[in-house]
Amino acid sequence: MRSQLEQIREQATKELELIGDIKELDNLRVRYIGKKGELTAILKQMGKLSAEERPVIGQLANEVRNSIEKAISVRLGELKAQAVEKQLISEAVDVTMPGKKPAIGKKHPLTTVMEEIEEIFSGMGFDIAEGPEVEYDYYNFEALNIPKNHPARDTQDTFYITDNILLRTQTSPVQIRTMENQKPPIRIIAPGRVYRSDAVDATHSPVFHQIEGLVVDKGITMADLKGTLEILAKRLYGDDVKVRFRPHHFPFTEPSAEMDAMCFSCHGEGCRLCKGEGWIEILGCGMVHPKVLKNCGIDPTEYSGFAFGLGLERVAMRRYNIDDLRLFFENDLRFLKQF
Ligand code: DAH
Repeated sequence: MRSQLEQIREQATKELELIGDIKELDNLRVRYIGKKGELTAILKQMGKLSAEERPVIGQLANEVRNSIEKAISVRLGELKAQAVEKQLISEAVDVTMPGKKPAIGKKHPLTTVMEEIEEIFSGMGFDIAEGPEVEYDYYNFEALNIPKNHPARDTQDTFYITDNILLRTQTSPVQIRTMENQKPPIRIIAPGRVYRSDAVDATHSPVFHQIEGLVVDKGITMADLKGTLEILAKRLYGDDVKVRFRPHHFPFTEPSAEMDAMCFSCHGEGCRLCKGEGWIEILGCGMVHPKVLKNCGIDPTEYSGFAFGLGLERVAMRRYNIDDLRLFFENDLRFLKQF
């Protein structure tokens, strides 16, 4: 039995050397010193021994068990250290490698032009105002001197939520909301999304953007309107741009006008871009109608003002030579990447 025990110790020690992973090590432990292991099998035969032999063999068996256990735990420590090492090597990060550049998006061309116009007006002391896209009929039409059945409503058909609530067709309602909440002097622009129930084509979309402007103070005249809008045209299209003001009609301004810029392509000769006109329409404008001032509780005998509204898409189309409005809304990366 003694030699059997020695043999077990020897064999276990030898095998331990060869073991390469923790699972194998556990198998070995079960095989030698587990409940059904070789050592236990031998101890079960202790009964056959004489009374003198028994304690001696018992002590030896304990020694063997202890030494195997110890060897196993030493080996376990080694294996664990090896595993950590291996993991560290495989997960090593080469900090000298060039990084992956995250793909950063770009501003939408409409955003770029919108911000540019905001900056032009901020420079002239204008604040930026906002209003809701879901608007009351009152603000979108009524207060702007466009009563029910006014023909101007025909060209601004929209999407109705209820009889009284609709998607705004213009940014002009922000004029009313501003004048209701703020005493003159007022100097604001109001950029935003507007809606009309137009069929989609190269120059129409049921959703588009406008920038509204409003100035109200004592002694504001048409000269202020022209001066301000000329600065806008120069900043947008260059110092040598020529503009003209044509009489027009808007229900909420009196007098009303449209501002044209001389065609940058043909310089007034008439070409395809300006459809032979020599001029390109830029915006609508006028002196705020006394009725509109009154609707907002501002005394038209004391105050006067001017207003204007321009379509953002048109400005951007001209700026970037884009001939189809739909491109702005399709969000095709091949288009957007060009700006
Ligand atoms: N709201 C007008 C439109 O959508 C544009 C406009 C014209 C706005 C004249 C104004 C203005 O403030 O004075 O057609």
